[in-house]
Parts: sequence; structure tokens; C-alpha cells
Amino acid sequence: TIPTLFRTLSPRLQSTMSAVEESKRAAAKVAVENHYPKDARWVGIGSGTTIVYVVEAIKALGVDTSNTKYIPTGYQSKQLITSAGLTAVEYDSIPRGTVLDVAFDGADEVDEDLNCIKGGGACLFQEKIVALQAKEFICVADFRKLQPRLLTNWKGIPIEVAPMAAHRVIFKLQELGSVNPAIRPSAAAKQGPLKTDQGFFIIDAPFKPLLVKADIEAGQVGNGKDGVWAVDELARKIRDITGVLEVGIFHGQTGPQATAAGGIGGQRPV
Ligand code: 5RP
Repeated sequence: TIPTLFRTLSPRLQSTMSAVEESKRAAAKVAVENHYPKDARWVGIGSGTTIVYVVEAIKALGVDTSNTKYIPTGYQSKQLITSAGLTAVEYDSIPRGTVLDVAFDGADEVDEDLNCIKGGGACLFQEKIVALQAKEFICVADFRKLQPRLLTNWKGIPIEVAPMAAHRVIFKLQELGSVNPAIRPSAAAKQGPLKTDQGFFIIDAPFKPLLVKADIEAGQVGNGKDGVWAVDELARKIRDITGVLEVGIFHGQTGPQATAAGGIGGQRPV
């Protein structure tokens, strides 16, 4: 069992892991207590390990959830919702024009402008479409994730691509300066590439750390010269490659009800 395995780890590793888990739980609690509307009717639930604590915190609020629909961002997310006794409704079944009250999700890395890299769990397309449908997008991240720039610790930008276009996309990413972009293998590597819920592939594309606003204000140029990119420029260039479904950079997009200051890049993370 996992607890048995955990006890076989060195005390130092055990305490680091506990600190990470405690940080995820604490962030989730604060996020839910501050951003979950008590009368929420539509709530997006993301993917990963941190989101488990978000659902735990929603349950702990003790509010009436019987009329609330939870929109999953993938298979794991749907299982999480239903096993917590909550009602899952797939994104493509929500009535046209519905705006989610809030969407919660995790992140792989967050920069000082609150742009995020997502897609470590290969759900980035569904995560983005759900986030864009929400009035407020709340990214919940433990202490390891916040870095001065994206791609400081996280090694590559996850990009969801049509399988038949994967090699073309890799070539185009190399033209943009990515060194060794690669198709993500499935967990059992012998089974070939990992497939997303859409049946697509994920390419992980390493780049140099992405410039933030302060870098641009200080005179740095993020137009790809010498492989140096600003967050929004690179996201746009990657999204423009035919064959790309979505890119795992969440930056400044605005959802249906978001104000100019809101949206994915503008929300304060918890
Ligand atoms: C999945 C994601 C996850 O939200 C991200 O990988 C964070 O996961 P975790 O909470 O396990 O660190 O983007 O595609």
C-alpha cells in the first residue's frame, strides 16, 4: 500500500513529501474558503493531485451541493467528483451560454505574473476550455511551483497535437528554438505515445525560461531571437502551428465574464 511504501522512504524524504502534501492541502483550503461561492451552481474541477484537496475542502465547507454541477477536465477528475458524492456533468452537456461560477485547477509551474504551465497530467485542452468558461479561474499550487519565470524547474511546455501532425509540429517547434521537443510516452512506454482523452498526443517542448513583464520593461526582447521568448508571444506562435490543438501555457486569456484585469493570467493564485 502507499502508506507502507511511504514508511520505507528515508525520514528526510518523508518529511519533504509531507511538507508538499501539507502545502497542497493548505492552499486548497484557502482557495475554497475564499473563492467557492456558497450558492455555486456550476463549478469546474481540474486534474492532478492538488485538486483532490480542493474537493476535500469543498466537502469540508458543509454547504448544500445537491443542486451544484461539477464539470470535470478529464477522466480522473470525473472519478474524483463522483467518488466524493458530487454530480459530474461533462463540458459538452452544459447548457449553451452557461458560465461556471468558478473553476479550480492545479498547475505545474507559475511565474511572477501568474502565468501557468499546465498539462503535466495531459489534460490541458479540457482544463483550458473549462477555465475559459468560468467567471473566475483559481489555480491552486504548492510552494514548489512558484518560480520567477516559466520553465525554471519545469522542463518543457506540454502541447496537445493531432497524432498525424506530431512530427511536423516537432519540426516547427525546433524552428522556434525548442531543443529536443519530444512526444510524451505512455506510462508503460512499450505501449507507444501517451494518448489524451481526445486521442491526441502530447509533445513536451523545452525552451529557455520565458520572459515576464518585468524583463520586457527592463528592455529584454521576447520575440524568439536567440531562442528567448516572452510568455504570450511564444504561446501564440505555438497555437498558430497547424496540428496543435492547445498549448499548456495559461496566460491572460479572458473567460466569458472576466474583466480586463481578470482571466487566466490575471487571477491571484492561492
Ligand atoms: C494536468 C495538470 C495538473 O493540474 C498539473 O499537472 C498539476 O498537477 P499536481 O496538482 O499533481 O501537481 O495540468 O494536466
